[in-house]
This record gives sequence, structure tokens and C-alpha cells, in this order.
Amino acid sequence: MTKPRQQYRCTACGYASARWLGRCPECGAWGEFRAEEAPAAAARPRRTGEPVRGQALSDVRSAGEARWTTGYGELDRVLGGGIVPGSVVLVGGEPGVGKSTLLLQVGCALSAAGRDVCYFSGEESPEQLRLRAERLGLGGSAMRVFCRTELEAVVELVRDERPAVAVVDSVQTLRAGDVDSAPGSVGQVRECAGRLAEAAKQTGTAVFLVGHVTKEGHLAGPKVMEHIVDVVLLFEGDRLQALKVLRASKNRYGSTNEVGLFEMGDGGLTEVLNPSALLLAERPEGVPGTVALAALEGARPLLLEVQALVAPSPFATPRRVADGVDLARVYLILAVMEQHAGIHLAHSDVYVNVVGGVRVGEPAADLAVALAVASSARGTPFPAETVVFGEIGLTGEVRAVSQTARRLEEAQRLGFESAVVPARGGSGRLSTGGIELRRVASVADAVKMLRRAAAERDVTPS
Ligand code: TYD
Ligand code: MG
Repeated sequence: MTKPRQQYRCTACGYASARWLGRCPECGAWGEFRAEEAPAAAARPRRTGEPVRGQALSDVRSAGEARWTTGYGELDRVLGGGIVPGSVVLVGGEPGVGKSTLLLQVGCALSAAGRDVCYFSGEESPEQLRLRAERLGLGGSAMRVFCRTELEAVVELVRDERPAVAVVDSVQTLRAGDVDSAPGSVGQVRECAGRLAEAAKQTGTAVFLVGHVTKEGHLAGPKVMEHIVDVVLLFEGDRLQALKVLRASKNRYGSTNEVGLFEMGDGGLTEVLNPSALLLAERPEGVPGTVALAALEGARPLLLEVQALVAPSPFATPRRVADGVDLARVYLILAVMEQHAGIHLAHSDVYVNVVGGVRVGEPAADLAVALAVASSARGTPFPAETVVFGEIGLTGEVRAVSQTARRLEEAQRLGFESAVVPARGGSGRLSTGGIELRRVASVADAVKMLRRAAAERDVTPS
């Protein structure tokens, strides 16, 4: 009989090594390696004893489309049409964004619809929860609250009572008794998420896990849970900004394109049903450096205000700051404007901002950024009743973007009169209604158009 081999395992993330290490190469934790017995060399695989058969996909019984609506259309849409029984949904976000508020409101709404909802809080006492519920006008809810942080207690309750929904706020405070690292460590979080997922699948209870993410995006939580859970929702938005965006970064039951918009007010979170109007509400008129962009958030058109400020730079290397759009994209747009549109910014600081804390990831924002910068650089206001979209290419061309018709429809709904759009794409079948289209083939065209608009404005008596 040979002596069992030893190995060392990081108690924070589970990384195994043949020798002891001070710092874990996987998760970076210090002093977490503990000795343990290495697993015996894999024996020859045994046969299962029975023939392995699959079945035709068409013979698999369909689980049907059971979905529970949460009472919040914005959340239902992001989930892919409501809560799927037995699913595990991770709700990630920075502290203070409103995760607890959202789940408290949703829990109470589900409870009011007659479902058994259990809310496990490791961060707040029942009195604190009650206080918050009262502030939200939900003091009368029948939702059950538990201030427990032992994983076993949660799993037991789910198995014994099979509530419709269990909310765990937060997974970082949960502790599995048989894992000896601290709550919130990778090992704990992975174990807790795994065991809860297993319980959810067996009982049909839908589990919502709250997970904190720091500004830097790390901290044990969400990353290691991503492959365990069915849906990962990210709740984004600055603590100081009212508008919060809920998006799915993974969804086994729906598209990851949809976003839900909420506004945080005194009465908690309310759904934003007309986001474009809200986002454009404070738009200044008749000043340089602001342009309305017709963007798409998921499948939904959204009108946003893009602002730019161009100012003489006191620095040898001028500053470029972007909020809401990719900074690398701004550099590219500035280079194209320099080379192809005669806008020279080598001695100017450039700031670009998308108002309202919304982040635009699509290249359709390029043209709006370029025009906002040009407008500020030239001191020429961009027409307020004109909306813009289009991607900019490296040769200065304005390229077509998807969903032209939907962008224009939204612009029209909000009373815009004209649109600066790519010369190609979406043509022909466009029913533009009352919107006048100004097609531009290049950035230079667009800048020229800006100059013309200014000239027209100057001759038109107001
Ligand atoms: P919270 O839901 O506790 O955030 P998280 O669980 O993500 O850490 O609350 C977020 C913030 O929202 C908090 O700073 C207070 C604010 N808030 C309101 O503005 N109005 C309200 O009605 C509530 C309940 C909270
Ligand atoms: Mg909270």
C-alpha cells in the first residue's frame, strides 16, 4: 500500500498545487494554501453496466412555458418574459445601486399575487427591512423575512417548504458550514451558489441571489458564479444618478439584448416607461456641444443626449475624457475628424459625455459624438430638432447601422423634425413619416451640414 500523496489547495478559490505556495496564482490570495490528501490516481473507468441511450429531441417532454410575472414589466422583459420556476438568477451591482430595494419590491409584488416568497437577509435586520418596506408603502406585505446567513438553513427551508421564490441578499454574507474560508471568499460563494442551484432545480423554487461587485469589477462573487446560475442580471447606474439600467449578461431563458430601466426616487424604484423623454428632458437648446442620438439599447430605441466640450488645453498632452462612450472610440473619431474633416484638436482638451449615466456601446453613436465635438469646437449650436446616428469608418466615411426605421420612429414619436443619417442603408423601404432625412456619406459632409445649418439659422429671423 502506497502512502497517500499530499497536495496543497487554496482555500479561497480551490486552486490545487503539488507544492505549497505563498500567493495563489489563480486568485491572488496570500497565505491560503493548506495541505490535503491528493485524490488517488484515477482508476480504470468502470463500465456503467447498462447500455447508454439518448433520446430524440422530439421525444423529450417539453417543460412548457411556465413563467411568473414579477409585476414589473421592465424586469420581466430582461428575464425573457418572467421568472422561470427552478431558475437561479444572480443580480449583481455595486453597493448602493438598489439591488435590495428592487428585490424587496419584486418580492412584495409576487407575494401580493399570492406566491410564497422568502427573503433571506444577511445585511439587514427584520426591523430595517420593515422600515424600508414601510417607506416603500409595502408594510402590509405577507412576504416572509429571515435574517439567516447559514447556507444549510436556506437550503433546508427551500427543500421543506418549497416557496415559489427565495431571495438571498447577499450571497457574500452566506456561509456554508463545511467550507472553512470566510463568507464572501471564492470557495464559499461557489459552494453556496452551487448548492442553492441544486435545491432550486429539485424543488422548482426560483432563487434570486444578490451579489456585490466593486467598481473594479472584482471581489469573489459574481465571476465564479456565472457558470452556475441560469441568469446574470447587472444593475447599473451611479449611486447619485436616478436612472438605473438592468441588463442581462447571461440568460439561459431569453435574449441578453433587452434592458430594463428604473428610476430611484423617494418611493423606491419605478419603471421608466418613456426613457427617451426623461433622458432628453434637460437638454439645453441653442448652445454648442449637444446632439441628440438615436441609439438602440437591446431591441429598444432610446434617444440620448451626447455632449462635448472642446477647450484650449493647458497641457502638453491634451486631455481626452469620455463618459458613457468608449474612450478608444473617441480617440478614433477625433483622429478621423482631424484627417478628414479639417477639425484640429491637437491643442484642445476634449470631454465627451452621454447624459443620464447611460452607456452606449454601439458604433452608431460615432456620428453624434463627432458632431457634438465639431459643434463645440466651432462654437456652432447643432439644431435641437435634429436627431443623429451613424458609424464612422477610418477613411472618414459614414457607415450604415442597423434598425434605421426603429430609430426614426422613436425620434418622430418625440417630435424630432429631421435626422442626420448614413447615406446608405435602410433606404427604400423607410417610412419616415414626417421626418426629413439628411443623408451624409462622410464626416466632412456632416461637418459641412453643421455649418450650413448655422448659416440658415443666422439668416432666419427668430
Ligand atoms: P439599496 O437597495 O440598499 O442598494 P443595494 O442593495 O444595491 O446596496 O439602496 C440603494 C440606495 O437607494 C440607497 O442609497 C438609498 C436609496 N433609496 C432611495 O433613494 N429611495 C428609496 O425609496 C429607497 C428604499 C432607497
Ligand atoms: Mg443591499
